[in-house]
Amino acid sequence: MHGLSTHELLYRDKDLIANTPGLANGGIALAVVEPESIGWAEVTRLLEEYGFIGFSAADKKTVFNEIRAQLGDEGDLPFWDSFTCTVSDILPTCERIIYSAGKDVAFDSSLLPSAQTIADIVSLNREVGVSPLPAWYMRGEGPPSMTSWIMSHEGQMIACANGSMRYHAKSRMAGTYYVGAVSVSPRERGRGLGTLATALLIRDGINAFRPKAITGIAQPANAPSRGMLTKCGLVHDPSRATVIYNRSGAFHTR
Ligand SMILES: CC(C)(COP(=O)(O)OP(=O)(O)OC[C@H]1O[C@@H](n2cnc3c(N)ncnc32)[C@H](O)[C@@H]1OP(=O)(O)O)[C@@H](O)C(=O)NCCC(=O)NCCS
Repeated sequence: MHGLSTHELLYRDKDLIANTPGLANGGIALAVVEPESIGWAEVTRLLEEYGFIGFSAADKKTVFNEIRAQLGDEGDLPFWDSFTCTVSDILPTCERIIYSAGKDVAFDSSLLPSAQTIADIVSLNREVGVSPLPAWYMRGEGPPSMTSWIMSHEGQMIACANGSMRYHAKSRMAGTYYVGAVSVSPRERGRGLGTLATALLIRDGINAFRPKAITGIAQPANAPSRGMLTKCGLVHDPSRATVIYNRSGAFHTR
């Protein structure tokens, strides 16, 4: 046993992952984008080491059977539906959301959030059941990363989100900006803050990274998350889903 946490494994392997078109660094999980190009023997080896592995925006019709056939029957296969959009379609919608934001909150985005901001985000993530990204990930030491957050007028962190350019330039997801880890304080839900945090993350990520497309994910039962992505202009793609092969059972997030 190596005894390293998932965060530590992903930090140790970050250059290898960045240089491999079929892999992506999700910060909280290693993601396989193209199992064929990695080879299932290598996927099996990585699974042994990591305990769980993600399959990003996979073909929903075939991915579950393929994982079971190639990797076995142990563990759960939770999945998140894919939501996607092109940049030109989404930007005006997000700008409108930001323009209409209430004056009782303050918001910001950064490629390099301060240690205090990261600490506040990690505690908010924990409170709402979102697995926190490592600090090194939010500082962009892995893939280029954008963090957006909203503060109440009392100076409390009440909403946050993170996006990253995690896909290799030669992969099928090249140029796609991933948005996620959206967290809203339970006391502040249902007043548009999840939508605002996502819109900020999308607008500021588009300006910083000039992506070709945007993607987000949401579990089938997570109606607020689906509503928030849809309001920002992302559209459910029923042909794709992100699946976690949770063999160790250690992967938990919303
Ligand atoms: C998902 C989450 C971020 C949404 O934040 P929020 O600020 O409550 O969401 P919004 O107020 O922006 O709602 C956006 C839309 O979602 C839908 N929605 C919101 N709450 C809903 C609910 N309880 N049931 C059904 N739909 C809901 C609505 O369509 C809403 O738009 P509308 O109010 O204009 O009709 C928040 O619920 C949360 O932190 N959940 C726990 C963590 C999580 O699941 N994160 C997402 C995984 S990355």
